[in-house]
Amino acid sequence: MLIKQKKSSDIASSEITSKSVFMNRRHFIQAAAASGLIGSIMTPDMADASALSGVGKTPYGKGLTPTDQKLVTSYNNFYEFGTSKDDPVDAAREFKAKPWKVTIDGEVGKPGDYNFEDLVSPHKLQERIYRLRCVEAWSMVVPWVGIPLADMLARVEPTSKAKYVAFETLHDPEQMPGQHRRVLKWPYVEGLRMDEAMNPLTLMAVGLYGEELPNQNGAPIRLVVPWKYGFKSIKSIVRISLTEKMPPTSWNRSAAREYGFYANVNPEVSHPRWSQAKERIIGEGYFSAKKETLMFNGYSEEVAGLYTGMDLSKYY
Ligand code: MTE
Repeated sequence: MLIKQKKSSDIASSEITSKSVFMNRRHFIQAAAASGLIGSIMTPDMADASALSGVGKTPYGKGLTPTDQKLVTSYNNFYEFGTSKDDPVDAAREFKAKPWKVTIDGEVGKPGDYNFEDLVSPHKLQERIYRLRCVEAWSMVVPWVGIPLADMLARVEPTSKAKYVAFETLHDPEQMPGQHRRVLKWPYVEGLRMDEAMNPLTLMAVGLYGEELPNQNGAPIRLVVPWKYGFKSIKSIVRISLTEKMPPTSWNRSAAREYGFYANVNPEVSHPRWSQAKERIIGEGYFSAKKETLMFNGYSEEVAGLYTGMDLSKYY
């Protein structure tokens, strides 16, 4: 991966929404929605704020403190909008995430072109506060809102031949200026083994911090696989294909020696160009002490069983 990072200390603290301000705002929105107030007090400006309603709480993320919202939404990897961390927030401003369709095909009983709303609305939204660990050795904590991928897949009825799930990002260089450059072969593609896709942790995210997903974070719908390096969590998905064969993945295709299909967070398996033993915490300042990387990013209990008997230094 191209490593060209801006120091998190470059972002003025005045630009960062403190957690208490966020919590107050969220409580206000929740309370207003519950009391039926929101319809009557909403100004045109607030209608743009795109708060998500009916989000259920879950135990995921107990004890984790979310990274400031301003950092989550301004320090991004989204090469379709540029290779610097601060490119996507500006370059994706005019991106049209509505209307949106997702094609689901391959080994499923109910293939089709699904409208985003039809895909999402049958499910109750859940908040999942997860660690996000990038292969570049930094991490943050994100309060995602979404639907378990398993629930979404169950509705399209995978056949017994489905062994993998392949994902594809939109290919639209008009809207995604980074696709004019050949930093990667476009569109961005990713994949999971079927049992990884069905694991309860695997999420299709449609929001974060109680609001619709900002464009720079992969609007309107993206994958989140918290025990794997962040590059597996593909953004702005337009196709989900269930396949018999292991699908190609973007970073593996670009540098197979450096990025495997599995990409499980593993402090013991170094990237050929840097160690993965420690990570820099976004929001704690560039020169603050690094933290030990956790096996499977701290989700061993939930996922270690998926890899029993596999040599994880070989299947990296
Ligand atoms: N998805 C697409 N389509 N394009 C990308 O460049 N970057 C990946 C992943 N998903 C990427 C992508 C990487 S390297 C990371 S670390 C995460 O998105 C970052 O997600 P965030 O910007 O929401 O923190």
